[in-house]
Amino acid sequence: MPLPVLLLLPTPPAQAIPKCHFPLNSKFVSQNPKHPNSLYFHSSRSIVLLVSDAIKPSLRTITTEASLSPPKMVKAIRVHELGGHEVLKWDDVEIGEPKDGEVRVRNKAVGVNFIDVYFRKGVYKAPSLPFTPGMEAVGVVTAVGPGLTGRKVGDLVAYAGQPMGSYAEEQILPADKVVPVPASVDPVIGAAILLKGMTAHFLVRRCFKVEPGHTVLVHAAAGGVGSLLCQWANALGATVIGLVSNKEKAAQAKEDGCHHVIIYSEEDFVVRVNEVTSGNGVDVVYDSVGKDTFEGSLACLKLRGYMVSFGQASGTPDPVPLSALAAKSLFLTRPTLFQYVVTRDELLEAAGEVFTNVASGVLKVRLNHTYPLSEAAKAHADLESRKTSGSIVLIP
Ligand SMILES: NC(=O)c1ccc[n+]([C@@H]2O[C@H](COP(=O)([O-])OP(=O)(O)OC[C@H]3O[C@@H](n4cnc5c(N)ncnc54)[C@H](OP(=O)(O)O)[C@@H]3O)[C@@H](O)[C@H]2O)c1
Repeated sequence: MPLPVLLLLPTPPAQAIPKCHFPLNSKFVSQNPKHPNSLYFHSSRSIVLLVSDAIKPSLRTITTEASLSPPKMVKAIRVHELGGHEVLKWDDVEIGEPKDGEVRVRNKAVGVNFIDVYFRKGVYKAPSLPFTPGMEAVGVVTAVGPGLTGRKVGDLVAYAGQPMGSYAEEQILPADKVVPVPASVDPVIGAAILLKGMTAHFLVRRCFKVEPGHTVLVHAAAGGVGSLLCQWANALGATVIGLVSNKEKAAQAKEDGCHHVIIYSEEDFVVRVNEVTSGNGVDVVYDSVGKDTFEGSLACLKLRGYMVSFGQASGTPDPVPLSALAAKSLFLTRPTLFQYVVTRDELLEAAGEVFTNVASGVLKVRLNHTYPLSEAAKAHADLESRKTSGSIVLIP
């Protein structure tokens, strides 16, 4: 549809300038050679002519009817103050137009991740208050920024990572942060898998490369990331030991390829790992629980083993003296997904492997919980109280 244009030449009658709004995200387009004092600006809602009055040399802004239309509002969850799950509020927020290199996406499904809890509580610092949490979603492109190629309205895309703000009906995203969703992957499944799947990918394929013959210890083995981690490590030929808090989660972890499951709320996991590995210890521990388990995880490692501390569901681990590693010449890393998908190629490769493994059945997606987006607080409460297993998705 052609954009509305208002042409108003110098010295218009005062009543022709209803209000001096300037369209959001507008971009200078051209100067009119016939009227050198006029400048054209462009936004996706209108083209606006800015006229300088020849007599009074001040510039006046003139808008079209379209650019005077009320701003587009969407529903979103926002955090106005840090705290418990009750600080997640269902708000109306204004959404602008995509700028250069951006797309606007109407979300079909939003992934919930433990990192959303850290930001809500202030363990990780959001850039400002209020903010909309969320780092994972699948949706349809509804607008593209000026001059953008490679993405078009109607594309089904997924994203996982920065910028934060997926707990919303619509959001604006950098186009280079979204990936196409293959036709074989349902959008809701896509939102359940991308961030957690790419996390499992970098953990077993890049951070510590799991190979046949390795013995792998996975904490929170029935959780969103844990479930995928166990399946992937098993598929790579490792012996997988999973730690969970109850019998239901133990049954799921077993189905997901754990050769041994330890209920760490009932048994001393260090003692049990020692038994299961005949005193040898494990090659790698993937520890996402943090404070409560860090020390025990180190104790489970074999000589020259790898401690991969990638989360802190129970709190931030205490500082680690180097002497704690020296006893067995251990390796320690504290990795973050976002530093493993820095380039566009890294992002496409990670997402591609995840979607391929879902399509081929190597990864079974456990979408065990869905909530309306407006009930994000309930989802957080359940996640934090360890009631959930597998993935959680919010539906706008
Ligand atoms: N480094 C990264 O880039 C990265 C990326 C994604 C996720 N992560 C981390 O991976 C972990 C899993 O994330 P997720 O979204 O898939 O969550 P999740 O595993 O589905 O949920 C967290 C699980 O942690 C276990 N847990 C142990 N102690 C806990 C406590 N005190 N409070 C709450 N839960 C506790 C619970 O399992 P049990 O009941 O079986 O103990 C709980 O179900 C999180 O720590 C997250 O920060 C890190």
